[in-house]
Amino acid sequence: MQRRDFLQATCGALAYAGIFMPSGISANVNKPLIGFKQVPPSTQDKVIVPDGYEVRKLISWADPLFSKATPFDENKIIDKNAVENAKLTFGDNTDGMAWFDIDENRAILAVNNEYINPEIMFNHQGKNMSLDDVYYEQNSMGVSIFEIAKNQDGFFSVVLDSPYNRKITAGTPIDIQGPARGHKLLKTRADKSGVRVLGTINNCASGKTPWGTYLTCEENFDDFFGSSDENYAFNPSQKRYGLSIKGENYEWKLDERFDIAKNENEPNRFGWVVEIDPYNPNSTPIKRTALGRFKHENAEVVIAKDGKIVVYMGDDEANEFIYKFVSKAKYNPNKPNRDILNEGTLYAAKFIDTKDFEGVGEWVALEYGKNGLDETNGFYNQGDVLIHARLAASVVGATPMDRPEWIAADPNGKYIYATLTNNTKRTQTNASNPRNKNIYGHIIRWQPKGDHTSTSFRWDIFLLAGNPLKYPNDLRKGTSNINVENMFNSPDGLKFDKFGRLWIQTDGKYSNKDDYEGMGNNQMLCADPITAQVRRFLTGPIACEITGIAFNSDYTTMFVGIQHPGENLANSHYPNGKSSTPCSAIVQIRKKDGGVIGS
Ligand code: FEO
Ligand code: CA
Ligand code: CA
Ligand code: CA
Repeated sequence: MQRRDFLQATCGALAYAGIFMPSGISANVNKPLIGFKQVPPSTQDKVIVPDGYEVRKLISWADPLFSKATPFDENKIIDKNAVENAKLTFGDNTDGMAWFDIDENRAILAVNNEYINPEIMFNHQGKNMSLDDVYYEQNSMGVSIFEIAKNQDGFFSVVLDSPYNRKITAGTPIDIQGPARGHKLLKTRADKSGVRVLGTINNCASGKTPWGTYLTCEENFDDFFGSSDENYAFNPSQKRYGLSIKGENYEWKLDERFDIAKNENEPNRFGWVVEIDPYNPNSTPIKRTALGRFKHENAEVVIAKDGKIVVYMGDDEANEFIYKFVSKAKYNPNKPNRDILNEGTLYAAKFIDTKDFEGVGEWVALEYGKNGLDETNGFYNQGDVLIHARLAASVVGATPMDRPEWIAADPNGKYIYATLTNNTKRTQTNASNPRNKNIYGHIIRWQPKGDHTSTSFRWDIFLLAGNPLKYPNDLRKGTSNINVENMFNSPDGLKFDKFGRLWIQTDGKYSNKDDYEGMGNNQMLCADPITAQVRRFLTGPIACEITGIAFNSDYTTMFVGIQHPGENLANSHYPNGKSSTPCSAIVQIRKKDGGVIGS
């Protein structure tokens, strides 16, 4: 049987195990990997978890991190005090996060605050922005770092005034390091040497290094730039990175730093991976330019057999690429490893078809002077290559993908999975992106040939999301592990727990009608990589995205991000109920018997 038939057949699980089975995660017939009962799709304004589980809010937007902060103001008065107060409270639109142990009962959570929803944040719904409003938004984005402590009942609470508590905002000084440090395209009037930038924005997903630092990844920075000159002529690189006269209408150009007509290099200082030491609240975060500039989703770190550090990264835009960085130095657990991410090779992925839904691949180095990355194509040094990584990856022939979101390594670090969330712009299919106008998204995976430093790999498709109710007769129905009970669209967040369960979070259409009928609100699912079984674990409130996941050290508490409930003024009052403003929040989930989540 052809693989295409396999994938469309009802006995689809065989199709996966037949290609290559992740070794080290052994299927146990006596004890299935996934032990909970699936929750049905939901359109309710709450978080629903399976029978036998409990869910509780940990923190929501504008909750204090310090006792001197004022709590959420339902009157939404934005003045100088509110602007300062936002530096002392949990930021908006929670996204990627990571857990850092302190001791048995305490930990630090580092959490991204990706962006803001003006229609929720302001009484004027963003239609009458002042400079204070802009600063308030800037202080509500970035990264929130705070200590949490375990209560008697096993749930955690935020520790106000902990010495670890810290906000990193759009105004926090950040060093620029790596090959692009001091590059002429990174120099501005305020920073004539191109080595220090104010702030990090659009902090989407994240990563954690083996040496205990947090990687926060800058994604849609172009949304926040604009031009006061309506005739500003954008160059090809600026266009490729999405810069425009109005951006997404956030009006940050009221702050000249975000006005391209006045500061044309400022956008080049965003779109990087930023390393933060959460254990040292006085440390200066660092933009690691060796990892390339694009719309970063997450940064999945693995240690190669030879000790080199490999970071897998997706660039979330239609027809953009998947990348990996391989460090020059080797990781040494007995040394600080402070600057290991400053030097190495950045690669872009080329997926080559061999059959339906599978193939081989090649990592092509983005190195100045090689593979056409030279003067003939407009690259004069490695800094150019990294700042214009998208253009460089196009020159070397990387494969345009269906919006690469999170990348996750299995617990043994042998197989890598990536979500391709959707791509309504695709007009030409290939085996790795097999559907035109891909509205449902899919998950691809690859196995390095040899080890993670290798430049070749083989790959296959783990699942195609779809709607088998609506489209039973073509690829839109999804792979055979997708059925009327567990269907969803737009896989985005993706993470393995240490037992080998693959957790999938969605950022999709929640209309629950037409193409999306029967899918309900955004949700979180759990997949068994061996059997390819997929089961819905959680459903979110109205008009939210589910994004961000972390576990405590023994995997008995799971932390999940609920982003922008009630976006576009949808009728949500999550999480505080009654007539309250909907707020993005982190929830914590435990099994009533105290067991491992998902078991
Ligand atoms: Fe911030 Fe591509 O998600
Ligand atoms: Ca995402
Ligand atoms: Ca998304
Ligand atoms: Ca979102």
